[in-house]
Amino acid sequence: MDLSTPPPDLYGRPRADTFFRFLTAFGDRYSPALGSPLLRRNPRRPYSRPTEALQLVVTARRRVAADVVELTLADPSGGPLPGWQPGAHLRLALPSGRERHYSLCGDPADPAERSGYRIAVRHLPDGGGGSAEIHDTLHPGTRLTARRPRNGFAFCAEPAVLFLAGGIGITPLLPMVREARRNGLDWHLVHTGRSADTLPFAAELRALDPARVHQRTDDEHGGPPTGAELLAHAPRGAAVYCCGPAPMLTAVQRALDASPAASLHFERFGAAPVTDGEPFTVRLGADGPELPVPADRSALDVLREARPDLPYSCKQGFCGTCEVRLLAGAPDHRDRRLTPERRADGALLPCVSRAAAGETLVLDL
Ligand code: FES
Repeated sequence: MDLSTPPPDLYGRPRADTFFRFLTAFGDRYSPALGSPLLRRNPRRPYSRPTEALQLVVTARRRVAADVVELTLADPSGGPLPGWQPGAHLRLALPSGRERHYSLCGDPADPAERSGYRIAVRHLPDGGGGSAEIHDTLHPGTRLTARRPRNGFAFCAEPAVLFLAGGIGITPLLPMVREARRNGLDWHLVHTGRSADTLPFAAELRALDPARVHQRTDDEHGGPPTGAELLAHAPRGAAVYCCGPAPMLTAVQRALDASPAASLHFERFGAAPVTDGEPFTVRLGADGPELPVPADRSALDVLREARPDLPYSCKQGFCGTCEVRLLAGAPDHRDRRLTPERRADGALLPCVSRAAAGETLVLDL
């Protein structure tokens, strides 16, 4: 990988240069300048720095599917929260110190929702403990912190849209569906799951437009849908927005060319399958044990078997939670976060970064 080129940002775009970054920030904060005798600050943008932590409190909790709870998080003083757009997510610091990302599933266009963020979390008994902590310990009154919402899955409001949601994958799509409906777009939603009781927000979605919402369950159809079956709902030339488990995304990607749809935007639940991986080795400290990393597994997964307390969050190379220090070896950086300077300084994100076949990465662990 060319280290002289900065990695793209969270949105997959190249980083802007300093001048244009300044210009964009200035325009965003003070727009609209024309037509006003004075430059006015955009009231939607608070003065707080983007990295400032938000103090939040759980104000409501409700069950929205068999093993899914929805939480409403508000400023403890009841004040308005920073705005967001459909597709945005919240990075939460849980009381245990774990960090997790959850899509916002409320309606950012509803003024009544400016004082509360809504997230929905499925309980994963075999997960890393984040969902279990939320289900077991977060109740009205619990305090926690979060980063301001960020959006890596922006909705472009194309004239024709197909939304494909696998189970809890409905959360980033729900605000997009509301916006598509509000804007009079030609939209359809296919929401899939194992059975009807596992589909979050099922009644709320049906109420939006029963003719455009297609709920499809494995138990009624004898198994998960094929990519072609899902894409058959696409209006001609549609943009497809998909969020679900890895097999669903793979099936949709493979069937896209033969479908009426024109483009695909997607967000994963967690780690992407390793592509072009080679087996390599990680060593814990200069004299520590050596752990083989197979071609189809991440270094993070291997490291967590030896160090179960090693933190992580996105598993996609953009949050930085899993950062470790590299003492020796030649890594293949595959993240979307670290600058060339940070990489040269020894930072490594083992959830996605790897090494060439036979290489040994010595980590400060
Ligand atoms: S877990 Fe987010 S960058 Fe590795």
